[in-house]
Amino acid sequence: MERFYLTTAIDYVNGHPHIGHAYEKILTDIIARHYKKRCDDVYFLTGTDEHGIKIQKTSASKGMTPKELCDENANAFKETWKELEIDYNKFIRTTDDYHEDTVQKIFKKLVDNGDIYKHSYEGLYCNGCECFLNQKDLTEDGLCPNHMTKPEVVSEENYFFRLTKYKEAIIKHIKEHPDFIIPQFRANEVLNQLENIEDISVSRSINNVSWGIPVLDDDEQVIYVWIDALSNYITALGYNPSGESDENFKKYWPADVQVIGKDILKFHSIYWLAILMALDLPLPKHLLAHGWITIDEAKMSKSLGNVIAPVDILKHFELENADALRYYMASSAPCGKDGNYSDIDFKEQVNAHLANSMGNLLNRTLSMLVKYFDGEVKPEFKTNSAILNTAKNTIDIVKDCFDKFEVSEAVNAINNLVDTTNKYVTDNAPWTLAKEEKMTECGQVLTTVLDIMCVIASLIEPYCPNIAKDMAKQLSFDLNTKYDNLTCDNIKCGKLISKEDIKPVFLRVDSELADKSQKKK
Ligand code: ME8
Ligand code: MG
Repeated sequence: MERFYLTTAIDYVNGHPHIGHAYEKILTDIIARHYKKRCDDVYFLTGTDEHGIKIQKTSASKGMTPKELCDENANAFKETWKELEIDYNKFIRTTDDYHEDTVQKIFKKLVDNGDIYKHSYEGLYCNGCECFLNQKDLTEDGLCPNHMTKPEVVSEENYFFRLTKYKEAIIKHIKEHPDFIIPQFRANEVLNQLENIEDISVSRSINNVSWGIPVLDDDEQVIYVWIDALSNYITALGYNPSGESDENFKKYWPADVQVIGKDILKFHSIYWLAILMALDLPLPKHLLAHGWITIDEAKMSKSLGNVIAPVDILKHFELENADALRYYMASSAPCGKDGNYSDIDFKEQVNAHLANSMGNLLNRTLSMLVKYFDGEVKPEFKTNSAILNTAKNTIDIVKDCFDKFEVSEAVNAINNLVDTTNKYVTDNAPWTLAKEEKMTECGQVLTTVLDIMCVIASLIEPYCPNIAKDMAKQLSFDLNTKYDNLTCDNIKCGKLISKEDIKPVFLRVDSELADKSQKKK
């Protein structure tokens, strides 16, 4: 694998980032960090979606210009991703000059090719979805099923994109590439939606919407939402529709995986493919449609007042870094399924897995090595214990999971290895071996565990980079080891560690937070 390009959806900037946005960026960041251990050149794109009626209205209601609102909120997204250690290569804003410029050229190319045409139209427009809906998409009461609001009747002369021209080619592509849409069960949904597609409106009258990219050579129209937003994945790489594209485009396109929420799968699996086909560009290899995150089993909404900002969780639990939240979010739902956040569950999960099982295992084992052997690993401690094969297999299982972008399933495999290793310690009771003065056997058990802890550090690193770093440091293990070179013979013989260098890698999330803040006063 030479290079790996992955993208997230770009978030609307009419509000601040919440835990649902964070879920997607964390998933993508973990996939990126995993693939950095498998190939040399990973490129990770994220950004913000800044045009449209919602931004126009929200900014007006706050007495700001749309750009002022975009600047403020795009910054909030960037700040949050920094806190969560989302290690992207590029952050695109759809108000960036180069993006606007390329989108105008893409639009013009599609007009010139006959893929976009002008047409008078009356339709039902949902401002929440930022798209026209068909009568049959609506609820019995005539409401948008996503937003439960009544769509506006809009009658305009707009530009239309000839989506129907690509219908058969898209159906064929989806059927011939069963792993194109992940999880696979969503492919059927898309195939059903394809049955009824019509050409789509891709511009709005400037009288109704002013906050958009103007159509070249037509003062009356702005390019509307989806051509603008979807194009970010190629404009960010320096795609040039009318000349030579940049090196990055040549190197990275098509994407290996595009991570999106299930609510926008239709736009990516149908509209986006059609646009790429119309531009005569290769198609992305995979679309990963993740599920929806609820809070305490309820849909997040401003009216319910249950919208959670990711940084507030870090503050609330007084966490030094985002490892625990990254771990929790990544394991909160099987691939493509919905997940849930609750404070209680968060605390229980991270205490159980990161502190009690994983952290303690390392801590206990290193402490015994110091107690019985003054921290020294002797050559005769190295064995071919069967459990080392289990660890080796886990590396392959985790790689297989990531081949299918099963980020949460991979966590289960890592946890299984931690549990198996804990059981190995209990079964072999190194403290009893020491008491019986079977020192070589005792040292063998401890060394075996430490060799496995290096594998665990390496596998958990994409999820919990800080914990992994602390583990690796105490194990003198090189975390940059690529998975292809990762063995189960990681611990070097000789003095490994002294008592004062043993530190817990993850402290239990305190349940007495109220107390703690009382004490501080
Ligand atoms: O859809 N749980 O922006 P957006 C999980 N700008 N994921 C969630 C979520 C939740 N509760 N809420 C939102 C847009 N998301 C467009 C995308 S891409 C060219 C344009 C996910 O801010 C959502 O599914 O409404 C989407 O993938 C992303 O956050 C941005 O949502
Ligand atoms: Mg949305």
